[in-house]
This record gives sequence, structure tokens and C-alpha cells, in this order.
Amino acid sequence: MTILVTGAAGFIGSNFVLDWFEEYDEDIISLDKLTYAGNPENLKSLENNKNHIFVKGDIADEKLITSILNEYQPRAIINFAAESHVDRSINGPKDFIDTNIIGTYSLLEMTRIYWNNLGYKPKNIFRFLHVSTDEVYGSLENNEPPFSEMTPYAPSSPYSASKAASDHLVRAWHHTYGLPVVTTNCSNNYGPYHFPEKLIPLCILNALNGESLPIYGDGQQIRDWLYVKDHCTAIRLVLKNGALGGTYNIGGRNEKTNLDVVEILCSVLDELMPKKDGSKYSTQIIYVKDRPGHDKRYAIDATKLESELGWLPEETFESGIRKTVEWYLGHQDWVSRVQSGEYQNWINKQYQ
Ligand code: NAD
Ligand code: TYD
Repeated sequence: MTILVTGAAGFIGSNFVLDWFEEYDEDIISLDKLTYAGNPENLKSLENNKNHIFVKGDIADEKLITSILNEYQPRAIINFAAESHVDRSINGPKDFIDTNIIGTYSLLEMTRIYWNNLGYKPKNIFRFLHVSTDEVYGSLENNEPPFSEMTPYAPSSPYSASKAASDHLVRAWHHTYGLPVVTTNCSNNYGPYHFPEKLIPLCILNALNGESLPIYGDGQQIRDWLYVKDHCTAIRLVLKNGALGGTYNIGGRNEKTNLDVVEILCSVLDELMPKKDGSKYSTQIIYVKDRPGHDKRYAIDATKLESELGWLPEETFESGIRKTVEWYLGHQDWVSRVQSGEYQNWINKQYQ
């Protein structure tokens, strides 16, 4: 049997593929367009794995998708492929519309044709798992309950609006055509292979380079952090036992302000890699201009996933952040290659 994983060279996709082979020997076809965020080096350890094939390509390329589906006959598709960075979506939304909306549409349509032509048994077991975000629910006030699967969609950035559109398409393809889909909406992830444009890896690397740790606005915005491998476990579980057409919120009940997150990771760095001059990393924190339309708070109620499928995260924020800092300290080669080229253009533009 085979599964097709799109966006497999990105942060969560690559963690998912690597974790998959620790659990199973079922084949994976990894598809990735290799945008600035896709890094084939993340999957380098699978170079000689006969169960793994990497294909460079776009989910919007209908001819390519059809030929992959027909050749490899996957029993499931896990769709991670997306443009994923809110700040980039504010600077240039078009790529988000192209991949997150039109790309998802093309992938769904080609999948529908493929699925319709399957025989009775493969048709019954087939699943299309769409990986989405809690940001589709919009922003919470501090006194509001966390997002449940029943919370109405109210996306506020070009990124979250494009992901919300993709979620609607996925569910419509189930409702209208019977395509066997399941959707997951997860909170903010962190961990190995996280591209350093996002808050946690950016601050780890800036701290180590003696650069500023930029906090947008007053740093009191709240995110609900989940270690990436706990997200991957949840996806495997939803793939196996999730209800057809269903939605599962995924989150580790780890709400933290951005300032708290950066202060915690500074204290882990103080312990693991003390600065030569004896000063604390937190002295590098600076406050910068706020993100336009910055969502105040995200928080996930994962009761459905916990009670229906028995999922629980393994890592606390403290244990996960320590593993993450250790991973970055141990992967300086990965870091220096990722930080060259296009990355510098983005950093110069965003934080000039
Ligand atoms: P990422 O930006 O690190 O990776 C996205 C990957 O998709 C990259 O490898 C990129 O090359 C690839 N890609 C982009 N456009 C493509 C296209 N048209 N065709 C094929 N591949 C394409 O993002 P991530 O953080 O790994 O997120 C993966 C998925 O999880 C996204 O759908 C995102 O919305 C969702 N998600 C992310 C988080 C988070 O905190 N990072 C939380 C919840 C949900
Ligand atoms: P980010 O990692 O971009 O994820 P998202 O916007 O999808 O939640 O940002 C996490 C939080 O950190 C968000 O509230 C914005 C904030 N942030 C900063 O304060 N400074 C930064 O340099 C970045 C990249 C993010």
C-alpha cells in the first residue's frame, strides 16, 4: 500500500514522513513544489529508503497529479502543501490564493476522478486528509472559550482566509461528491526543521547570532503551541480512525503569550549555550512594529480528538522547547544552508 504526502519537504510534512517510517514500512510518495519553504535536505535520511519516492511538483499541476495517482494508486492522500506564513501573505497574497485555494481545488478534482474509477474495496478504504489550521476560526478574546469544531469560521489574514476556503472546498467535495475526506485544524507547531521565518526558530537563531529578538507590538498575543511530533501522531490517528467527512481540532492546551514563549526559550538557551559575556539572551528582546490585523489569541479545545480517538500529546511546552533548542544547536549545517539565499531577502525586507 502507498500514501501520497503533499508538501512533504516542508516543516510538518517532513516530520510526518520521517515519523511515518519509524512506525510503518508502507510506501510514501512525497510531492513538493520546493518553494522557498520546501527543503529536500529535510528528507535526506530517506535517500536509500526503497519505500520512499520524492517527486518535485505542484498540487495545481493536474496532469502530474493524475499520472502520480494512476501510477502509484495511493490508498490515502495527506495534503500538507500550502503557503503557510501569515507575514508573507500580508506582503503578497497571490501565492496563497494559487496554492491554498486553486491548488487544493485541482488536487481535489484529480483525486475525485481517480477515486471514482477505483474498484469497490480500494474505493471504500481511500481517504483524503486535509491538514489545516486553527487560524480559520479567527481571533479570540482572552475570556472566550477555546475553538471547538463547532466554532464558526472567521479568518482574518490572507493566509487564514485561503486556508478557510480550502477547508470549505474539501468538505464540499465530501458533501457533494461523496469524496472520503477528513480535515484537521491544528494550533501553532514548533520543533525540528521549522523554517526560521516563524517566531520560535527565528528567535533561537537570532539569539545565537547575537541579533535582536523581534516581538511584534506588546507581545501579549497568545498562541497555543504543539510540538510537531504530537501533531504527526494525531494525523496518523485521524487517518486511521477519523470519521468520514469529520473535522478534528488538534492542540496541546499550551497557551502562551509571545513574550512568554521568547523568554522561556531564552532561559533554555541560557542553560544549554550560556553567552560568553555572562549576559542573558532575554536582553536581546526588542519590540517592533505590530503585524497588521494581528490576531490576539488562538486556543484549541481538543476534547473531540482526545475522547473519540484517544489522542494525547506527549510533550509539554517546556519539554518540547528544550528538544527544539537542542535540535537547532545540533544542526548548525542545516541552519546555515537554510539561512542563505532567499531567506536573507525576506529578513531584510520584514525587519529592516
Ligand atoms: P511549510 O511552509 O513549512 O511547508 C509547506 C510545504 O508545501 C513546503 O515544502 C512547500 O514547498 C510546499 N508547497 C507549497 N506550495 C506547493 C504547491 N503548490 N504544490 C506542492 N507543494 C507546495 O508549512 P508547514 O508549517 O509545514 O505547514 C504544513 C501544513 O500544515 C499547511 O497546510 C499549514 O497550513 C498547516 N498547519 C501549519 C501549522 C504550523 O504551525 N506550521 C499549524 C497548523 C496547520
Ligand atoms: P508565527 O510563528 O509567524 O505564526 P502565526 O502567525 O501563524 O501564529 O508567529 C507566532 C506569533 O509570534 C504571532 O503572534 C506573531 C508573533 N511574531 C513576533 O512577535 N515576532 C516575529 O518576528 C514573528 C515572526 C512572529
